[in-house]
Amino acid sequence: MQRHSPATLAHRFLDRMTHSGRRLVPTAIGVVLVALPAGVRAQAGGIGFGPVRDTDYRENGNYDTAKVELGRLLFFDELLSGNRNISCATCHHPDNASGDALSLAIGEGGIGIGVGRSTGTGTDRVPARVPRNSPALFNLGARQFGRLFHDGRVAVDGAQDSGFDTPAGDDLPSGLDNVLAAQALFPLTSTVEMAGQRAENKIAKAAARGRLAGNNGVWGRLAKRLRNVPAYVTLFRQVFDDVDAARDINIVHAANAIAAFEMSALRSDNSPFDRFLRGNQGALSAQARRGMNLFYGQAGCARCHAGPFQTDGRFHSIALPQVGPGTGGGGDGRDDFGRANVTGNVGDRYRFRTPSLRNVELTAPYGHDGAYSTLANMVRHYRDPARELRAYDPNQLILPSRVDLDAEDLVVMSDPARVAAIAASNQARPSRLDNVDVADLVAFLRSLTDPSARDLGALVPDSVPSGLITR
Ligand code: HEC
Ligand code: HEC
Repeated sequence: MQRHSPATLAHRFLDRMTHSGRRLVPTAIGVVLVALPAGVRAQAGGIGFGPVRDTDYRENGNYDTAKVELGRLLFFDELLSGNRNISCATCHHPDNASGDALSLAIGEGGIGIGVGRSTGTGTDRVPARVPRNSPALFNLGARQFGRLFHDGRVAVDGAQDSGFDTPAGDDLPSGLDNVLAAQALFPLTSTVEMAGQRAENKIAKAAARGRLAGNNGVWGRLAKRLRNVPAYVTLFRQVFDDVDAARDINIVHAANAIAAFEMSALRSDNSPFDRFLRGNQGALSAQARRGMNLFYGQAGCARCHAGPFQTDGRFHSIALPQVGPGTGGGGDGRDDFGRANVTGNVGDRYRFRTPSLRNVELTAPYGHDGAYSTLANMVRHYRDPARELRAYDPNQLILPSRVDLDAEDLVVMSDPARVAAIAASNQARPSRLDNVDVADLVAFLRSLTDPSARDLGALVPDSVPSGLITR
């Protein structure tokens, strides 16, 4: 039932990557700029692309206000979880720049948000860590973000009737507005994230059996919950032309509203770097300029972190240390084979989607499993990924401790053969970044922070229709 995307040949250019073998010297973009006519300068910014525009976003950045507002309520409403104890916002909270500030997420059963989140108590406690880091959700309304999740398992795909390739195969309902709406259906179906454990509630039971569609599937049961809240019925009727009565509400309406909220609320493209791209030469400090020139020049970062959002949308291995319970790879399930989970190709093992670096200063820890807790550590990884992998210091992990969970965290890193396999997959050639280069690159990465992303507190609603709000 699950359809696999064909393997991509897009990594080929990496084979041609060479290393100059000398200290990286920033290219003199400033000098080049002076030589260019004004029109070219504005368009190219010296780095091959111009500023982000409204038309780069789905619906050209214009979203229906009422739909966005409904999506906001749903995003914060714990009614959408099997045990009514977790919402999207728990792991993508405004206080944590739309992430959770943990290396690996703590799903339903946990208590609190952010670094203070616990693994819960008694029989309600979490059975395992979520195997991956909660990513920040900035700018996902941009059209270029066609593949979601660290392994791209939810993606735009014109060959499918629904328009999307997802783990649900033919069960995916039609009518989803965009790939973000398709994505929003999946946290609901995850036992460890939102649904709960089999014996705890009917939604969890359906999730554990893989029953997603139909009235008694995960999505049908959740839609029924929404239909039973009069305030939601009123709102859904106001927003959607095809909803006249409670019975017309289905999970697709909810997903479309959540997507509208994410696209609208988390657009974030007014950083110093954006102002620079719009022609304000003074927006970046000299150090950030040096870092930018390295990033888009000799440090080779832009081979993968391309364009104004710093991503090519493709999958690469940078030999990031592997921590946590894994996603079922290897004899004991502790490996995370990343993109290979989706394509089935051994050659895709340990490859993950290049993340956008917008607001990256605010979104630690880093990588698909939050292995690195600071930007400097993350950037130093690129000096020699295989060496840094072996020298990895797990003390930087940001995880609530629990003896049985801790015991799973470093299984892969304690096995030399598995570490060697990760090292061998690396596609980021060592680049001789000295301490000044690292500091310059970090300064550039900090220039990607939109000041408005520092305080997203206004996104938290005063209340939600079910009364079960995540604060
Ligand atoms: C238990 C924590 C948790 C909850 C609850 C949760 N998420 Fe996530 N979210 C994650 C993690 C972890 C990932 C990455 C998973 C992966 O790549 O395998 C993720 C990935 C995503 C992505 C993909 C981002 C990208 O750049 O590819 C989006 C969008 C998203 N979540 C939105 C939502 C929405 C909407 C909800 C509620 C319906 C939700 N999340 C609930 C933890 C959570
Ligand atoms: C070969 C492609 C490639 C190159 C070259 C590359 N990156 Fe990355 N980068 C990635 C991928 C893929 C990830 C995510 C890896 C993972 O999750 O396992 C990543 C992750 C990151 C992160 C963490 C972002 C987050 O939100 O977790 C930062 C910061 C980063 N890279 C900066 C850089 C810098 C600076 C350079 C240049 C010195 C660089 N990258 C070069 C592909 C690359």
